[in-house]
Amino acid sequence: MRPLSFKITSDHFLLWVLLSLLWGVTGSVTASPTTATTQTAQSTTLSTIKPSPENVKKVEVQGRNETSITLTWSPVNNISTYILQYNKNGSSKKENISASQAEVKHEVSSLNAGTKYHFTLVTVFEGVNSTGYTFTAVTAPENVKKVEVQGRNETSITLTWSPVNNISTYILQYNKNGSSKKENISASQAEVKHEVSSLNAGTKYHFTLVTVFEGVNSTGYTFTAVTAPENVKKVEVQGRNETSITLTWSPVNNISTYILQYNKNGSSKKENISASQAEVKHEVSSLNAGTKYHFTLVTVFEGVNSTGYTFTAVTVPPKVPFVNVSERSVTSITLKWINVDRNWSYLLQINGSDVADIKNVSSDVVSHSVTSLNPGTMYKYSVTTVFEELNSTAYENVTVTAIDCASVAWHVGNSSIKGIVEGLFSNATASNGSQTHVSFGGNNVSFTGLYPGATYEVSLMYETYQQCRHNLTILPPGLTAHCEYWAAGYSIRIVWNKPVGMWTDVEVNVTGKPKKIPNTVQYIVIPGFLPARTYEVSLASFSGTVRSSEPFVFKCSTDPRGVIAGSVLAVLLFCVLVFLAIFILFIRPDLISRKRTFISGCELVTKKCSAISVDMFAAHFHQLSMDDNRGFSVEYESLIPVGTEQTQKVAVLPENKPKNRFNNVLPYDWCRVKLTTSDSSESSDYINANYMPGYNSNREYIATQGPLPSTVNDFWRMIWEQTVGGVVMVTNCTEGGRTKCERYWPANSTPCLYGNLLVTMTSEQQDPNWTLRDFNVKHRNTSEQRTVKHFHFTSWPDHGVPQCTEVLMQFRGLVRRHIERERTGAPTVVHCSAGVGRTGTIIALDVLLQQLEKKGEVDINGFVHKMRLNRPHMVQTESQYVFLHQCIMDILQPDEKTDEHIYENTDMIYVNATALQEFRYNSNP
Ligand SMILES: *[C@@H]1O[C@H](CO)[C@@H](O)[C@H](O)[C@H]1NC(C)=O
Ligand SMILES: *[C@@H]1O[C@H](CO)[C@@H](O)[C@H](O)[C@H]1NC(C)=O
Ligand SMILES: *[C@@H]1O[C@H](CO)[C@@H](O)[C@H](O)[C@H]1NC(C)=O
Ligand SMILES: *[C@@H]1O[C@H](CO)[C@@H](O)[C@H](O)[C@H]1NC(C)=O
Ligand SMILES: *[C@@H]1O[C@H](CO)[C@@H](O)[C@H](O)[C@H]1NC(C)=O
Ligand SMILES: *[C@@H]1O[C@H](CO)[C@@H](O)[C@H](O)[C@H]1NC(C)=O
Ligand SMILES: *[C@@H]1O[C@H](CO)[C@@H](O)[C@H](O)[C@H]1NC(C)=O
Repeated sequence: MRPLSFKITSDHFLLWVLLSLLWGVTGSVTASPTTATTQTAQSTTLSTIKPSPENVKKVEVQGRNETSITLTWSPVNNISTYILQYNKNGSSKKENISASQAEVKHEVSSLNAGTKYHFTLVTVFEGVNSTGYTFTAVTAPENVKKVEVQGRNETSITLTWSPVNNISTYILQYNKNGSSKKENISASQAEVKHEVSSLNAGTKYHFTLVTVFEGVNSTGYTFTAVTAPENVKKVEVQGRNETSITLTWSPVNNISTYILQYNKNGSSKKENISASQAEVKHEVSSLNAGTKYHFTLVTVFEGVNSTGYTFTAVTVPPKVPFVNVSERSVTSITLKWINVDRNWSYLLQINGSDVADIKNVSSDVVSHSVTSLNPGTMYKYSVTTVFEELNSTAYENVTVTAIDCASVAWHVGNSSIKGIVEGLFSNATASNGSQTHVSFGGNNVSFTGLYPGATYEVSLMYETYQQCRHNLTILPPGLTAHCEYWAAGYSIRIVWNKPVGMWTDVEVNVTGKPKKIPNTVQYIVIPGFLPARTYEVSLASFSGTVRSSEPFVFKCSTDPRGVIAGSVLAVLLFCVLVFLAIFILFIRPDLISRKRTFISGCELVTKKCSAISVDMFAAHFHQLSMDDNRGFSVEYESLIPVGTEQTQKVAVLPENKPKNRFNNVLPYDWCRVKLTTSDSSESSDYINANYMPGYNSNREYIATQGPLPSTVNDFWRMIWEQTVGGVVMVTNCTEGGRTKCERYWPANSTPCLYGNLLVTMTSEQQDPNWTLRDFNVKHRNTSEQRTVKHFHFTSWPDHGVPQCTEVLMQFRGLVRRHIERERTGAPTVVHCSAGVGRTGTIIALDVLLQQLEKKGEVDINGFVHKMRLNRPHMVQTESQYVFLHQCIMDILQPDEKTDEHIYENTDMIYVNATALQEFRYNSNP
């Protein structure tokens, strides 16, 4: 309120103006009774001046947000007009407010956020302004636009945001463990960065960030952020094998998402695992065997990874695929296998106990020798791959150590090798390059029927391993020899036969002067002797350094003729001698060169040899037996090459080889018996059998081997197909503990089926020397029936010939009568074991006796020759050849018993020991 003062002057005009003004004021004051009273009480001139209204006492901010402020105040003396003035964005704003209530409320809007405004509120009365009440008020600040998580770990989160309008005060609120936390933040930089620490791992926090401006809060920016989860405490390998590892762990705070990382073959693998149970179980598969893997297991919470728990785990190493026994000796074996990974080691066990722990092998192949083993023993070995203390499955196998053949006490005979071999082997063979013999006697190795003088490689095999081999030379064949007059008794000429077998030299020893003669020559002339003397000569054959078992010793007389002529009558007969000498030398030189010994007519050209008539036979026999049976030897040896040039191709075909009982007794192709092969199930037409000539035709007999277990059916097939009515068997099934022939007929009256043939034994009649049987043979398909007679000669002794020729000839008589009775023309089957020795003898006997009866003559040599063209070795030994002669002799001179002693004590007659042994051996088949 401005005070009014008045000064009265002399200037009357000015005074008038003032007075008229005063008038006007007092006139208007009358409209307002309250002031008028006070003015009029003082003076009439003062009543015309209007006073200014009061300002409001106080203005309050009732509410605000980012764009508006609501103000309230109590009106002054019921004055209802106000003017509110403020600046916005540099320009002055004026708002007229008329208030009617007791409380004025005014909202200032369209303001800027977070801004301090200076207001002036002017009270207006009667057009008069109050002085103006000035105050300030602020709008609410804005929230931050965005908060970012700049970093985090298990206990802290680092937040950043851009400050709002350079506002530097913020309040961050969140809950932790149930209680509310508030953090005041003052920011000075362009970028606010704040770390919230002491948080719990793997937890989601709800944050509110409030911007504070002049003590006024923004509405608050809410966001969430999570701390990094913890790693798992421990991972355990629950199971594993060569390709997979099964891991287990306890989940972290029920977190169900995990990432497992590892490297495989150079590339990184990542597996996402979601776990729902209390125990997480995860199998990592398709791994490599025996490998160490480095794993990282990351716990994932709300997309945030833990730091990762790292661990290693290994797969089981693989089983060694193959172990090769590369060397086997008598006391050691060497094992070899591939070393795939040099980090692996190997455990070797022999017979279940550890022998080697093989580590740090730097090569690609592991080679290990086990020593101090026993010879010929089976050992079980196992190899286990070991990696990081994990064992693979063991590779297990067995092997055997070698045997030292050379140290075996071999007994080498004329045709056999025997020895007891300690140690394990499955097969023993003796081979001379062309023939291989097999021993079936277990550790008693025995090879028989070997070729004299030949060198055999004895080989022991365990399955496919060769246990050992050793060369042994069979004793060379024995010799027979005789001497001849030479050089009027001043020299001797010794001639020996060509023995059956191999020999390299013959050592001739006459009175202590041994000489060796190579096998290209069969005689020697030794000078320096006196006529009409007797010298002892000893001959031994050699095969290399091996000497025949016994030398052939005989007495040799020098020519006595010169001595007789030359002593007393020397002078008297001088002229005669001269004459004779001239005569002998020039006209009859043959008189001195003629051999004293027998020269058979058959020796030169056997085929043209004439039969010996009954009258001449005894003389013939004696002639042959002279000189230690030299004539028999010469005749018999002349038969050795007969027929041998013929082919035996079918017999040696691989599929037929097992059908032969002996691999050196094979039928000639041209006259072998062929089985019919119309039945498609029968692949081969082969059987070890030949047609044999008889007295009337060329196919009177079939000579065959004793059936093998595998050829019994073929044997009966042959009997059926050839319509055979008689079978002659001249062997026992076993002799001396050896199987000679399979029993191919039923043991009793129970019928047996052999292939398609049902065989029933209808009768059996046993005699001391033979057994006769009748078989009924019925074909299964056609039901056709036939009878077959079985002549079984049982008393051909184990090592010899029948006690006397008479028994065998009686037996032959039974057979012959049966053939005459039947008269079918079908061949008669004859067999022993090989089907050549006894078989040849009985066939020859049958034919020769017919020749004797019908023609009064026999041709033994001629018929054996003929048989040998059909089947090799027919009449297999010289003794069997002699036996045939003896049979004829006994027929012709039934009362003369002297010669029977030949067979009772053969040693006395057959000086040639080798021939005798051969006789004994060969009489077995
Ligand atoms: C501020 O408040 C006024 C009145 O209360 C309202 O009309 C306006 O929409 C509000 N502004 C914001 C940004 O909330
Ligand atoms: C009262 O104040 C307003 C705003 O400032 C102005 O426009 C007006 O002229 C004033 N009146 C008087 C009589 O001074
Ligand atoms: C988390 O990070 C903060 C700062 O970055 C550090 O101080 C703290 O030790 C860390 N905590 C862990 C558990 O690593
Ligand atoms: C602003 O917010 C904080 C935190 O909630 C609170 O303590 C304070 O009282 C608030 N200030 C105003 C003026 O509302
Ligand atoms: C390894 O184990 C897994 C499951 O345990 C199986 O599926 C797999 O066949 C096994 N592999 C071998 C090589 O045994
Ligand atoms: C978590 O780890 C996995 C595997 O390493 C990776 O692929 C992913 O990007 C990580 N996530 C984060 C948020 O780091
Ligand atoms: C591996 O084999 C050896 C020998 O048999 C044995 O002593 C060891 O305990 C085995 N190791 C394991 C993990 O089976």
